[in-house]
Amino acid sequence: NANGLKAGKTRNIVEKMEESGKNCVIFYGSQTGTAEDYASRLAKEGKSRFGLETMVADLEDYDFDNLDEIPSDKLVMFVLATYGEGEPTDNAVDFYEFITGDDVSFSQGADPPLGNLNYVAFGLGNNTYEHYNSMVRNVNKALEKLGANRIGEAGEGDDGAGTMEEDFLAWKDPMWAALAEKMGLEEREAVYEPIFSIVEREGLTKDSHEVYLGEPNKMHLEGTAKGPFNAHNPYIAPIAESKELFSVKDRNCLHLEVDISGSNLSYQTGDHIAVWPTNAGQEVDQFLSILGLEDKKDTVISVKALEPTAKVPFPTPTTYDAIIRYHLEICAPVSRQFLGTLAAFAPNEATKAEMAKLGSDKDYFQDKISKNHYNIARTLSVVSNGQKWTNVPFSAFIEGLTKLQPRYYSISSSSLVQPKKISITAVVENQLIPGRADPFKGVATNYLLALKQKQNGDPNPEAFGLTYELNGPRNKYDGIHVPVHVRHSNFKLPSDPSKPIILIGPGTGVAPFRGFVQERAKQAESGENVGRTLLFFGCRKQNEDFMYKSEWEDYKNALGDKFELITAFSREGPKKVYVQHRLKERAQEVNELLEKKAYLYVCGDAANMAREVNTVLAQIISEQRGIPEAKAEEIVKNMRATNQYQEDVWS
Ligand code: FAD
Ligand code: 2AM
Repeated sequence: NANGLKAGKTRNIVEKMEESGKNCVIFYGSQTGTAEDYASRLAKEGKSRFGLETMVADLEDYDFDNLDEIPSDKLVMFVLATYGEGEPTDNAVDFYEFITGDDVSFSQGADPPLGNLNYVAFGLGNNTYEHYNSMVRNVNKALEKLGANRIGEAGEGDDGAGTMEEDFLAWKDPMWAALAEKMGLEEREAVYEPIFSIVEREGLTKDSHEVYLGEPNKMHLEGTAKGPFNAHNPYIAPIAESKELFSVKDRNCLHLEVDISGSNLSYQTGDHIAVWPTNAGQEVDQFLSILGLEDKKDTVISVKALEPTAKVPFPTPTTYDAIIRYHLEICAPVSRQFLGTLAAFAPNEATKAEMAKLGSDKDYFQDKISKNHYNIARTLSVVSNGQKWTNVPFSAFIEGLTKLQPRYYSISSSSLVQPKKISITAVVENQLIPGRADPFKGVATNYLLALKQKQNGDPNPEAFGLTYELNGPRNKYDGIHVPVHVRHSNFKLPSDPSKPIILIGPGTGVAPFRGFVQERAKQAESGENVGRTLLFFGCRKQNEDFMYKSEWEDYKNALGDKFELITAFSREGPKKVYVQHRLKERAQEVNELLEKKAYLYVCGDAANMAREVNTVLAQIISEQRGIPEAKAEEIVKNMRATNQYQEDVWS
């Protein structure tokens, strides 16, 4: 296999487990890092509580036709996220196709093929999506069919309900009990053992050229970054233009133009751009401070895996400051289990007891921590009353926090109109939290806001309270840049521009539709026959958050009667008016267009809007065609299956 050869590593999991003395492998299929984290946590817990020799493995790194060679005294765990419309995550596509394939076959050809395989499975999904947890469900089914033996129940976590962490915790205890019984494991008192060692590098300073200060890989460090640019290797793109689409009280919406002309990156209308954010200076400082690392922030360290199968999640030698600023998700929600781990290192007995309580009492944790949106540094500070946590091995944070993740944005430009410039439309996350003095601020969107201020030469770049390192490591990006890559999506215009389309996108959900309409306007200008284009857009008030208001008029000039913008202003009258209400008012036309095979697209809020649109659509079809609702729902399902109905939604 080409990948295996290139990396010089084995793709044979049986061989890998044998040579590293492991009896339990935890495979993960992860898109945003959560499944990978859960896999690491299972590995850690299996080792410390039951003495299992565990290893974590990226599904992308191995072949699977020898799963039948894993003997029955060993164990395989699968932690599998479902992505988008019931799809496997990028790193799990090959595995998924293999294991659910019709012609799956294994090296030994036994019957049943996987009769020896003992496995455990947990899925990460979101119940607001049509295909809830389909990845773990389908893999589980496939494994059962192949004769493999599942231990415990296949767990399912629900991000839609916001209970992912609690679902995981509730699933894993009975799973461990079943596992211990089946494999004859004895539980022992769990003692924390670090996975990484931190070695101070005397003789190196943060100015030494071999020290990483946030560069994602060696090419970036050496200033020779080149493509392919992807999820492992971002392109540092200049920002060509940036502005605010609206700004009212504490709500801002940004429009950025990212220049990819210096790269070999390309995109198609409807794709996503990933933005690699930087943590805010204040958050980095608070994190360093509560750990008592302020004076050591620029100390150069190497991080070494003490386990042959563990991977250091960032390049070293580096500094504490760089790890915290560029590589760890330090602002994310805190894991209750992680607090349990940290309890052992509390600065005093009272703090230790409080941490243990938070770790074990779900409601107490919700009330004290989750409800306030505290991140890890704030949590530690609140619990210890500001006393510093100088005893925690730094390895615990590398293990316990997610890698800082790129954030995805639906590209809001057309590749036909501007192939080398990508538009982003993003609302800045700035939420008032009841009972908390300062608002909660999102990582990537506030970073983008700061970039916008810098790019515009705003006189007061701290107006929104957060400061960022904006010129990249070593101030080596001249001007204003942002690290990005492109992710291709299936959210695509019909290839025939004369087909009618119905677009439904309130708020930032309008982003890809700006691209779609821009593209059709250009096609019309070039004399192509463009089909009817209905855009349903919703916002609070026309004078407040009506995005691209004047641009729609330009597109109307190009498209004439072919284009119609239908607005729903939710906060102008006594009653809320939403896009789905407008859709219903236009029932007859919508139905006629669908019968003419119009494509229908929904973008934005997955939690409520997308689901309600789905319901309203079935009602429209039922009423207009005089058929029972159940039948209409079948039709809608079928529209989805045939891509006549496409969604680009997030929560
Ligand atoms: P984050 O810091 O990631 O916070 C996001 C949310 O996580 C918060 O609102 C909060 O609910 C929760 N959270 C974070 N930290 C905590 C904590 N400590 N305690 C409790 N809760 C916490 N957005 C757009 O604006 N425009 C788009 O076009 C767009 N397209 C998207 C397309 C796709 C395919 C996807 C998956 C998402 C898209 N998004 C889009 C959303 C976007 O990716 C980001 O999620 C969003 O901008 C917020 O990012 P952030 O880093 O500012 O916030
Ligand atoms: P609201 O905030 O006044 O409730 C963009 O955010 C627009 O989407 C706003 O007008 C918002 O209205 C509206 N919105 C909120 N919930 C919605 C839902 N369930 N369906 C459709 N639109 C919704």
